[in-house]
Amino acid sequence: MKRWLPLLGLPLVLATTLAAGDSSVTAEEGQKAFVTVARVLQSPRCMNCHPAGDAPLQTDRSRPHTMNIRRASVAAGLSCQACHRERNSEAIGVSGGPPGAPSWGLPPEETPMVFQGRSLPALCAQLKDPEQNGHRSLDDLLEHVGHDPLVLWGWQPGGNRSRPPVSHDAFVGAFRAWVRSGGACPP
Ligand code: HEC
Ligand code: HEC
Repeated sequence: MKRWLPLLGLPLVLATTLAAGDSSVTAEEGQKAFVTVARVLQSPRCMNCHPAGDAPLQTDRSRPHTMNIRRASVAAGLSCQACHRERNSEAIGVSGGPPGAPSWGLPPEETPMVFQGRSLPALCAQLKDPEQNGHRSLDDLLEHVGHDPLVLWGWQPGGNRSRPPVSHDAFVGAFRAWVRSGGACPP
């Protein structure tokens, strides 16, 4: 029995190594990757739905939404999806209309995930704090930025809206590096 023990231990060691992430990404590299992540999060396409206040923002200048749209409008019965459909309006033949993607809306009031006006350290801390991110792990966040339709919309925004400053692949690559560093935050 004794000589089997090392073999039994091997899968355990492997499993622990995998669970701990890829430690080849240093904290310094993680912090650097986060700078790229933040440039995307704070670009208009993302920030406009992650505002500091209760109103979504519009255009590349991130002005408050017209028609006094806010979280309270939804509570009062006017859903975002009444205007924002599953695709950009141009895709259904209406130019200058509302952009669209499945489940268009603001993050919940309790976990608003504010990207507007946050310093890099504050943005980073908020992102990985389970109390503020809806109890998501770093891997859950990586999954979200890789596949969520609202995130993907940022690179297909319709109209003459600008795109985030780096490609989606480069963004996900930087996000992955940040996750593998254990979520290292800039000082
Ligand atoms: C139309 C509004 C909208 C846009 C545009 C948008 N988001 Fe979000 N975002 C949301 C909502 C709603 C949630 C909350 C999802 C939930 O709680 O299930 C969220 C949550 C998140 C989260 C937290 C992770 C999670 O699983 O909740 C991250 C990270 C995020 N968004 C990144 C981005 C990035 C990056 C972009 C731009 C490329 C972006 N968002 C654009 C609405 C938006
Ligand atoms: C009565 C119709 C209507 C409702 C309801 C509405 N919107 Fe809009 N929204 C629009 C129109 C029209 C535009 C396009 C204006 C423009 O070109 O920027 C727009 C633009 C936006 C943008 C700008 C996208 C960008 O990056 O430039 C965001 C974000 C947004 N809406 C979020 C929301 C959210 C979140 C809700 C619900 C809380 C909502 N809207 C409710 C009509 C509406």
